[in-house]
Amino acid sequence: MKDKVILVAGGAGGIGAEICRRLVSLGARVVVADMDRAVSQAVAGRISVDRAMGAECDITSADACERAAALAVERFGRLDGMVNCAGISRPGDSISLPAADWARMVDVQLNGAFYLAQSCARRMWESGGAIVFITSTNAEAAFPRRAAYCAAKAGVAMLTKVLAIEWASRQIRVNAVGPAYVETEMTQRNIAAGNVDVEQIRRRIPLGRLAQPGDVASAAVFLLSGQANFITGHSLYVDGGWLAYGYF
Ligand SMILES: NC(=O)c1ccc[n+]([C@@H]2O[C@H](COP(=O)([O-])OP(=O)(O)OC[C@H]3O[C@@H](n4cnc5c(N)ncnc54)[C@H](O)[C@@H]3O)[C@@H](O)[C@H]2O)c1
Repeated sequence: MKDKVILVAGGAGGIGAEICRRLVSLGARVVVADMDRAVSQAVAGRISVDRAMGAECDITSADACERAAALAVERFGRLDGMVNCAGISRPGDSISLPAADWARMVDVQLNGAFYLAQSCARRMWESGGAIVFITSTNAEAAFPRRAAYCAAKAGVAMLTKVLAIEWASRQIRVNAVGPAYVETEMTQRNIAAGNVDVEQIRRRIPLGRLAQPGDVASAAVFLLSGQANFITGHSLYVDGGWLAYGYF
């Protein structure tokens, strides 16, 4: 990853910040792009003063995605990769889910992923690069009260395949990493709201624990790196065996 320039959206979050830290430790330069400029800058500052920069980017705005990708090139001279970790989680019964909540979920998880991929690929068009979407086991496995989340993540898994085959001729690889439950603030909020029973989750995961952000970062960095040069259009599930498990 030495001297590669990677834009990480949702880079101030639990998984995103860990990916940024890992990339910088491997010699890359990162743009920590997230909703709030001050928060993004603070996270970037803690990672590295000269190899990380913070940027404001709400990925639901195609213009904001253009600005963030342009900023990466302006500051570091090139763009080699993007990881999209931006996301929200708002479980609710499908029968009463407000249309606005449905629309917001699809906007952040699916529309934003496309806008950001488009803006970044435009900057990698001549030199090639790699894109990694953070999806979820929910791209494959249905959970109740998460209709919009599951549908949007499944949409990103298919988007991964379509962009991979469309952009392969430009040597832009597109892959996804799909975690099961990860110990981040998103999960803490779901536990606090009573949406998740952490002991029940542990019992459901064959490896017997929730994922750590580092488990997800390892998979994302692998897919960004030259080690994955011939891998594109693939969803790699980092789930401790969740999807394989089909017993009682
Ligand atoms: N935590 C888990 O258990 C888990 C499991 C599977 C998948 N995921 C996925 O991993 C990704 C990262 O989750 P996390 O656990 O780090 O959550 P997190 O809440 O710690 O971080 C998410 C980040 O996304 C940012 N964000 C939200 N909306 C945005 C927008 N419109 N534009 C830009 N940034 C935005 C937030 O500000 C936050 O910094 C999400 O896509 C999530 O769906 C998480």
